[in-house]
Amino acid sequence: MRLIPQKGEPTVMPEPTDAKAYGKYLTNAAACRECHTQVKDGQVIAELEYGGGRTFELPGGTLTTPNLTPHATGLGYWTKEQFIAKFKGYQDSTYQSPKIDFMHEYNSIMPWMMYSTMTERDLAAIYEYLRTVKPLDNETVKWKPRTQGVEVAKQ
Ligand code: HEC
Repeated sequence: MRLIPQKGEPTVMPEPTDAKAYGKYLTNAAACRECHTQVKDGQVIAELEYGGGRTFELPGGTLTTPNLTPHATGLGYWTKEQFIAKFKGYQDSTYQSPKIDFMHEYNSIMPWMMYSTMTERDLAAIYEYLRTVKPLDNETVKWKPRTQGVEVAKQ
């Protein structure tokens, strides 16, 4: 039995000046693809990468990830400034997630607060990388409240 694992071969981090390679590296490290791609048998469908549409069943409803490709149904019309601002909006340490009735209300698993502390340079690099992925036409509905098996909310 060989109990000692093989030697790892860590990827070398590209220089930030190589914007494209650096953006790709960060996007991969941040695992954006895992949630923002549909899956089959637990595996990401490579041809649909970053197209959104992966669903997550939460107690209050079904959450679907949006399309991050440069298509109009994705981040097509988002500017780099809007993209960075969306993340940075969660960086304020006084930010408190709203208290919700999680059995009934909208909830998200997008790790906004975790990513909000990335530098603007790194968020910009992720944005730039996402501009280069294949545009996919996929309009998604972010949240569908559960309608079956839910007790009527108390008045
Ligand atoms: C754990 C799953 C998960 C991971 C990992 C994840 N996302 Fe998300 N993301 C979501 C979900 C679910 C939504 C929709 C709900 C929301 O907006 O909070 C979302 C929403 C977004 C939106 C808003 C788009 C819109 O149309 O409103 C952007 C932009 C985004 N994600 C970018 C990213 C990027 C970039 C990464 C990697 C740095 C990433 N996400 C990683 C689950 C994830």
